[in-house]
Amino acid sequence: MHHLFGQRISTMVCLSGLFVVFAVQTVGGAALKQEASLENSATLLNHSMALVQRMEALLALGNGSDVTLRIQTVSTDEVKVIQAHSLVLTLQSDVFDELLQMRNSSNLVLRESAECASVFDKFIRYLYCGDISVRPDQAIALHRLASKYHIWALQQGLTRYMAQHLSSDSPTGHVVSWYQYAVQTGDTTLRDSCLQYLSWNLSSVLQSAEWRSISDELLLSLMQRSDLVLQSELELYEALEAWISQNQPPDMTAESALRAVRYGMIPPQHLFRLQKQSPLMLKYYESVRDLLFLTFQFHAASPVQLAKYFDVNCSLFMPRNYLSSAWGSPWVINNPTRDDRSFSFQTQLGPSGHDASKRVTWNALFSPRWLPLSVRSTYSEHGSMQPTRTDGGQPRIIITPATSSPDFAGVSFQKTVIVAARQQGKVVVRHVYNFHQSTEETGDFLADADLQRRTSEYLIDSSLYLHIIVKPIYHSLIIAKK
Ligand SMILES: *[C@@H]1O[C@H](CO)[C@@H](O)[C@H](O)[C@H]1NC(C)=O
Ligand SMILES: *[C@@H]1O[C@H](CO)[C@@H](O)[C@H](O)[C@H]1NC(C)=O
Ligand SMILES: *[C@@H]1O[C@H](CO)[C@@H](O)[C@H](O)[C@H]1NC(C)=O
Ligand SMILES: *[C@@H]1O[C@H](CO)[C@@H](O)[C@H](O)[C@H]1NC(C)=O
Ligand SMILES: *[C@@H]1O[C@H](CO)[C@@H](O)[C@H](O)[C@H]1NC(C)=O
Repeated sequence: MHHLFGQRISTMVCLSGLFVVFAVQTVGGAALKQEASLENSATLLNHSMALVQRMEALLALGNGSDVTLRIQTVSTDEVKVIQAHSLVLTLQSDVFDELLQMRNSSNLVLRESAECASVFDKFIRYLYCGDISVRPDQAIALHRLASKYHIWALQQGLTRYMAQHLSSDSPTGHVVSWYQYAVQTGDTTLRDSCLQYLSWNLSSVLQSAEWRSISDELLLSLMQRSDLVLQSELELYEALEAWISQNQPPDMTAESALRAVRYGMIPPQHLFRLQKQSPLMLKYYESVRDLLFLTFQFHAASPVQLAKYFDVNCSLFMPRNYLSSAWGSPWVINNPTRDDRSFSFQTQLGPSGHDASKRVTWNALFSPRWLPLSVRSTYSEHGSMQPTRTDGGQPRIIITPATSSPDFAGVSFQKTVIVAARQQGKVVVRHVYNFHQSTEETGDFLADADLQRRTSEYLIDSSLYLHIIVKPIYHSLIIAKK
């Protein structure tokens, strides 16, 4: 009894310390209104760091503790014990408030998953100190705890953390598990950020251990997307093969995934090999036979000819964002604000066997500060004042064929510019812009890039890292005829 009483006293001492701080601030606030001039000469003595350290010590030593948290790991007999203070827990969480009111003894038993139990110390420390250090692999468990105990500021902080740390290094990868968690909790913003990250960085994801852990649902939704950034469709097929042999999904899933491969984008010599040697293809051949047949027809003649005789409307002939050299080229622009830059590169006329060996030369022109005509005419109307180097204007790229050719009939060449940036030390795709001839069409090309600043997040060592892709689209094959 005496011992308990002693603990109570030390809690009170610590608390009255807290109240003094609050009281001084309240008086200071009132005085500010009345005697603003006097207050201006006041100096802030700030010892909040020391207060935080004391709170941390209070938790670590457990002095004056009036509640013992017993954290039981679900379906094990592991128990973690933390000496806590009901006042602090109640101050932060209405859930703790209710649990503490209901308890019968000085113990409070909490049941948590192994994942959550392993970060419970960190979580409680946050309640005492208001700061927390987070690793990518701890974010979900902490988010779960913050949600369960209604620590809303922590929950929001973690949501923001996840959105900003998709590219962080972690030994086993974390974006796939964050995606699953976002789906589970209905956080559509996080879900979409994860999906976009996975789509835009698919090549690295395909090679990581994470790829094998992708769920059926995520696999199928990735396979549908046209904005995947990867080397080639063959790379995707091979990754799918690895995934299926690892996960042994139901036939339905394997068949849907196989039917989402865009066989038209794979050169015939590779298709022959798949058809004869890929165990996956041999097993499910019947379910993709029609797509392969259509693909070989596509490779046999000009796509325009094919469209004359067959009504087709499918994604089979729709390119994704392929990085391999047949489809485009990287373009690194040093000191992009200095002046206009031009660049030439070649692509195949089209993916069909009939066109793949025909080359098209493209000229690309980058202007760092291009002004739309309408803006330029306002300048001339208002006298001689010309825009200065840094005045207005926005980056623009135009891409035009070096020569025209009758082969271009029936094809529309869609251009895609991929802008890479560095995040957490890694190069990641920051933006993907699609347009026909000029980035003016997108309206927001590099709109927030602020290329004038050497520290712009869009620059890597003062250079702009672009990759240009040219995608031949045969509308007659994709948009069905009447
Ligand atoms: C007091 O100091 C801490 C850290 O030293 C700082 O984060 C905080 O903003 C300061 N408070 C005020 C009111 O200046
Ligand atoms: C906390 O408890 C420890 C022993 O358990 C004691 O040494 C220390 O002085 C106490 N600290 C305070 C601030 O009461
Ligand atoms: C408190 O005790 C009552 C009766 O002894 C029991 O029914 C109840 O489940 C206990 N509550 C908790 C939270 O342990
Ligand atoms: C993201 O994609 C870019 C370009 O495709 C690649 O260079 C980079 O390594 C990828 N980043 C990560 C973190 O996978
Ligand atoms: C053609 O395919 C596209 C994309 O799959 C779809 O949106 C469109 O409705 C289809 N058109 C017809 C006529 O089937």
